[in-house]
Amino acid sequence: MFVVVGVTGGIAAYKTVSLVRLLVKDGHDVHVIPTDDALRFVGRPTWEAISRNPVTTSVHDDVARVRHVALGQQADLVVIAPATANTIAKMAAGLADDLLGTTLLATTAPVVIAPAMHTEMWRNPATQANVDTLTSRGVHMIGPESGQLTGDDSGPGRMTEPERIHEVVTRELRKGSGEAAGRTWLVTAGGTREAIDPVRFIGNRSSGRQGVEVALAAARRGADVVLVAANVAHDVIADALRDPRIRVAHVSSTEQLAEAAEREAPGADVVVMAAAVSDYRVADVAERKITKEQAGGALRLDLVENPDILAGLARGRRDGQTIVGFAAETPAEGETLAERAIAKRRRKGADLLAANEVGFERGFELADNHLVVIDASDAVVADVAGTKRETAEALVAAIIAR
Ligand SMILES: Cc1cc2nc3c(=O)[nH]c(=O)nc-3n(C[C@H](O)[C@H](O)[C@H](O)COP(=O)(O)O)c2cc1C
Repeated sequence: MFVVVGVTGGIAAYKTVSLVRLLVKDGHDVHVIPTDDALRFVGRPTWEAISRNPVTTSVHDDVARVRHVALGQQADLVVIAPATANTIAKMAAGLADDLLGTTLLATTAPVVIAPAMHTEMWRNPATQANVDTLTSRGVHMIGPESGQLTGDDSGPGRMTEPERIHEVVTRELRKGSGEAAGRTWLVTAGGTREAIDPVRFIGNRSSGRQGVEVALAAARRGADVVLVAANVAHDVIADALRDPRIRVAHVSSTEQLAEAAEREAPGADVVVMAAAVSDYRVADVAERKITKEQAGGALRLDLVENPDILAGLARGRRDGQTIVGFAAETPAEGETLAERAIAKRRRKGADLLAANEVGFERGFELADNHLVVIDASDAVVADVAGTKRETAEALVAAIIAR
């Protein structure tokens, strides 16, 4: 996930290096925004090396990419550690005279701050009033703790240890704050493989990209997601594996996918069957590799029908559960994709059906897609072409709207 770590000008800045390390280790894309004063405590090379991302403090750097708002817009969470009295005051007033200030105003993500300062500064009514203002706006406070401060003195003002901040940040990232928060989504992705013998299989061209994007889009809106992945390449599923709100279950055949879907569906509020499953499987899977000598000039395979997973889940749906089917179609001459989708939705009994047109050079394996989403009254509730992330966002929005 995209995590912004704001660092401000206190001695405890050195401890935040550990926090950044822990977040990077979790697989998050971490962007550190120090204040100018923070860089007097820990320098830019340290932040860049540890976060593995460029670090700037000024709104005038990287202007072409509108960095002063881009980081805040992209963020799944902003954490400020340590948060000085000065920065807390600036946040309460909504000041935006540096990159951290503009980022905080541009974000709608959860904000977590770990104050650190001397006890007198912490207890000062000005600081306390600013903290109250931030808390009333939904900013999460961690600490400060009581203990030894920078000098000989001790009392409340010490920054909470990075391991504990990391725990709170991880919990907040899992919780999410979107419209799907508190809901569980089951999403299937990829293409099943039906074994012919220990070496060969019957498969399809689905890469799993669209299903993974649906899982990520649901997670971005706060859902807990179970992603059942059938033969999805590592580079396609990598972002989902790193997302703490997504649990991935790997399967290969249609039978295994059906088992996983039946196991997970009762706990899901929304089921999106984006995987391309095989309608048929090989009747008798050979124990050993079939050789040319055995098969002769022609090899015949007997295929038997697989259970219709989507129709089964739709029949067994519980109250309040939404079942969404996917259809990769090659419409006949004179037939539209929407007509095809309407007929298929009725046959399957799904609440929504997302159809995309496929062909030898369409739909599969590519970055772009065209989705038409049909609801139970045969209305087209979304018709969107774009990247698979964009089409996933539109589908997830249509599901949530329903
Ligand atoms: C050695 C040293 C340690 C400091 N530690 C803190 C601190 O822990 N908390 C704090 O609020 N200010 C601390 N300050 C003061 C801040 O650095 C100062 O208020 C600065 O303007 C904060 O700027 P910033 O909030 O933009 O980072 C410290 C200053 C020095 C010189």
